[in-house]
Amino acid sequence: METILVDRFGRVHDYLRISVTDRCNLRCVYCMPEEGMEFEPDERILTFEEIAEVVGVLARLGVRKLRITGGEPLVRKHLEQLIAMLSAIPGIEDIALTTNGIFLAPRAERLRAAGVTRVNISLDSLRADRFAMITRGGDIRKVLASLEESVRVGFQPIKLNVVLMKGVNDDEIADFLAMTLERDLTVRFIEYMPIGHEDDGWRNKYVPLSAVMDVCAERGWTADASGEVYGNGPSRNYRIRGAAGSFGLIHPVSDHFCETCNRLRLTADGSIKPCLYWTDEFNVRKHMGDEQAMRELFFRALDIKPLNHEMAQVLALEAQSHTPTARRMSQIGG
Ligand code: GTP
Ligand code: 5AD
Ligand code: SF4
Repeated sequence: METILVDRFGRVHDYLRISVTDRCNLRCVYCMPEEGMEFEPDERILTFEEIAEVVGVLARLGVRKLRITGGEPLVRKHLEQLIAMLSAIPGIEDIALTTNGIFLAPRAERLRAAGVTRVNISLDSLRADRFAMITRGGDIRKVLASLEESVRVGFQPIKLNVVLMKGVNDDEIADFLAMTLERDLTVRFIEYMPIGHEDDGWRNKYVPLSAVMDVCAERGWTADASGEVYGNGPSRNYRIRGAAGSFGLIHPVSDHFCETCNRLRLTADGSIKPCLYWTDEFNVRKHMGDEQAMRELFFRALDIKPLNHEMAQVLALEAQSHTPTARRMSQIGG
């Protein structure tokens, strides 16, 4: 089918990020407060049938790629069942999972069988004590076991997400890059985004990703831009000459990639978010069972989708054209 989810700026939308829960077993410092987070009650969370209905309508409008996120998607019970339902929808070609990796190892095989083809695993430090500090209690051994299990069951590619924070993990850039020399992994360095963090805590920890290229230069590593098509996702990808794996830079703040944005988001409580950053959202729950009404809602969402998120203006303390979202990152799914 022809893609018809095109916005005012000509951006074609063929990718949906589905947050299946706002809950998480961790409390990463850049994502959630340590205490006091309020979660949606079960009755406000979309059922698997409702998620599949939304995806069915979007697939008939050209969506081909899905990414399952959370919170932590693996805290949602029977997720494999949802994956199998989504895999069966005509037009869906690719189902990926973004996870913190704590619960992945024992379920990797079943998720693969249900239809997950690839995984992105958050791993912000290679040091056990530091990892526990950033995630507020996570056990790095479980994540490393999940990484090995992901290789074994054949997820491809496997990407590691590293949110860089000044004075927290920015001294590990070389260690993460060294990993790509040996292993066929993609390590993505991500700029800390000011979502629910428009205070000085965020400002003081933000690291522009030029820091990664500086480390390559210091080590004498030549990083070539890799041939991957830019526009499939926000990451700009490189490979150190001779390396088995590659690395990516996701720099929404210092250099946004919004001109190639191909994605919509579905929150766990049923809202379509045309942009990660802005408050605009459209609740699909009231349109269950009415494909025409749902389609109209998707087109309304695309119609107000702004040209970019203006996070750089936040950094520069300049005025913005829209209102930033009140949701936390865990309530959007990144
Ligand atoms: P693929 O390219 O499909 O592998 O996925 P991805 O990199 O888009 O997904 P992932 O869930 O691993 O997200 C990595 C980082 O990119 C997270 O910090 C996300 O919040 C961020 N990200 C993903 N999509 C967008 C986007 O549209 N805008 C912004 N600003 N950040 C995004
Ligand atoms: N800035 C950048 N990335 C973030 N993530 C969560 N919060 C933030 C933030 N404030 C990342 C996680 C995960 C992905 C879904 O989003 O590390 O890999
Ligand atoms: Fe949980 Fe992911 Fe947020 Fe960490 S980044 S608290 S793992 S949702």
